[in-house]
Amino acid sequence: MKVLFVTSEIAPWVKTGGLGDVAGALPQALRQAGCDVRVLVPRYPAMRAAFPGAAHLAHLPSMGGQLPAADLYVARTDTGMTLLLLDCPPLFDRPGNPYLGPEGGDWLDNHLRFGLLARVAARLAANATPATALDWRPDILHCHDWQTALAPYYLRFYEKGGAASVLTIHNLAFQGIFPPQVLDELGLLASDWHIDGVEYYGHLSFLKAGLRHADLLTTVSPTYAREIQTEAEGMGLQGLLKSRAAQLTGILNGIDTTVWNPAGDSHLAAAYDRDHLAAKAANKAALQRQFGLPERADIPLFAVVSRLTSQKGLDLVAAAGDRLAALPAQLVVLGTGDKTLETAFSELAERHPLEIAVRIGFDEALAHRIEAGADIFLMPSRFEPCGLNQMYSLAYGTPPLVRATGGLADTVMNYSVANLNNGSANGFVFADATPAALLHTIRRAVRVWQDPERWRQLQQNAMAGDYSWRTPAARYRDLYAALLK
Ligand code: ADP
Ligand code: GLC
Repeated sequence: MKVLFVTSEIAPWVKTGGLGDVAGALPQALRQAGCDVRVLVPRYPAMRAAFPGAAHLAHLPSMGGQLPAADLYVARTDTGMTLLLLDCPPLFDRPGNPYLGPEGGDWLDNHLRFGLLARVAARLAANATPATALDWRPDILHCHDWQTALAPYYLRFYEKGGAASVLTIHNLAFQGIFPPQVLDELGLLASDWHIDGVEYYGHLSFLKAGLRHADLLTTVSPTYAREIQTEAEGMGLQGLLKSRAAQLTGILNGIDTTVWNPAGDSHLAAAYDRDHLAAKAANKAALQRQFGLPERADIPLFAVVSRLTSQKGLDLVAAAGDRLAALPAQLVVLGTGDKTLETAFSELAERHPLEIAVRIGFDEALAHRIEAGADIFLMPSRFEPCGLNQMYSLAYGTPPLVRATGGLADTVMNYSVANLNNGSANGFVFADATPAALLHTIRRAVRVWQDPERWRQLQQNAMAGDYSWRTPAARYRDLYAALLK
């Protein structure tokens, strides 16, 4: 089974969040599950630098509208994965974040950047022999989020079919919505401007077009698959999603256990596993030192690694911060995003220099050290399609404290004595998105942490879970196979 995987980010080279992690690991796991996968991704500067020997494969003349001509390069990763790099310097040869300009706002031509990515994906997936030297036509076109969601549309209406298409929703909050003027620029026709086309409340929505026209929809947890069909969580698309419920499946993400494994993680001060948890203490002390906090083994260390956005519920943590600092506890925060949240956390750290420390920024190595060195990982998300950090925490014996939503509800089982003893408890779960409910649960976690035997059991339960991509990859493979029947 040949699968063209199309993504706007891919770890470890270009990553702003979980999508990058998924795109870095799932294709690899699909190969192990027997699929022939190639990944199409823009040739950003980081990709150019990582694969200087990439070979030129084909020139792609403009495909309409203001979509520029482009080139395809091919490269092989050190694990043997084939990458197709979409080269178009005017659109992709820019420093920094793949979506945001230096001022922190969206690049103004994001519709062209990701429209081109989607258009090329559709061309590569089309039945008509692509005018490329690729000599490889996929059976499945697997797209991810709004950035690639126009591809199933282009494939159906501009290529007259080809591969079966799958669109995975990683986050319904980002819909790729643009003013009507971009229709022409994307090489779309006035006849596409209707409710079954690309029009969405007077605007053009990349995501909606994909949700309407992909052969199959998936999202990244079973709970989120249900939630997005409701008014509360559907972000306006619940009607469409409900109408496609028969083609919508929730498959929980996995984690890349070659990258996220405390027994073999080169970022850590000390390696450890489920049977050698004592070594975790060295990671805690190193983390406290790195953050300039007193090295205290006698109080629990809470942690956050996150995009700082309202999705993640970190305003609740900021609001509870003063009271958290008054407990016998410490808090470290690594994140970047909303300026108000960045300021709120920085001010908390200034007020409580012995208890709270903050790093504003994106730092992969530090994220690993935090997962290993913290005692409890905080993830009070308002909504969470899947969430990877709670699974990293579970694998690192750092019980997560989460709000019951989306993939958090599917992966974290609340502490109770009964759940502890039957092996299911692996963290702490609360329901109300309020600072009071969060704080109540934080206090509960502190009390359990103070009982070393129970704590060790909780950690061991967490570390016993299988969070790898093996099972989810097999589920994607089976879905592809069913789709081709
Ligand atoms: P989302 O994709 O919604 O941001 P996930 O939990 O799925 O949430 O994935 C987030 C990924 O991004 C994780 O790998 C996490 O470690 C990483 N991450 C988020 N913020 C930072 C940061 N400031 N520094 C380093 N890694 C970060
Ligand atoms: C999105 C979601 C996150 C999910 C990730 C990978 O960024 O916010 O919950 O884990 O995609 O699927």
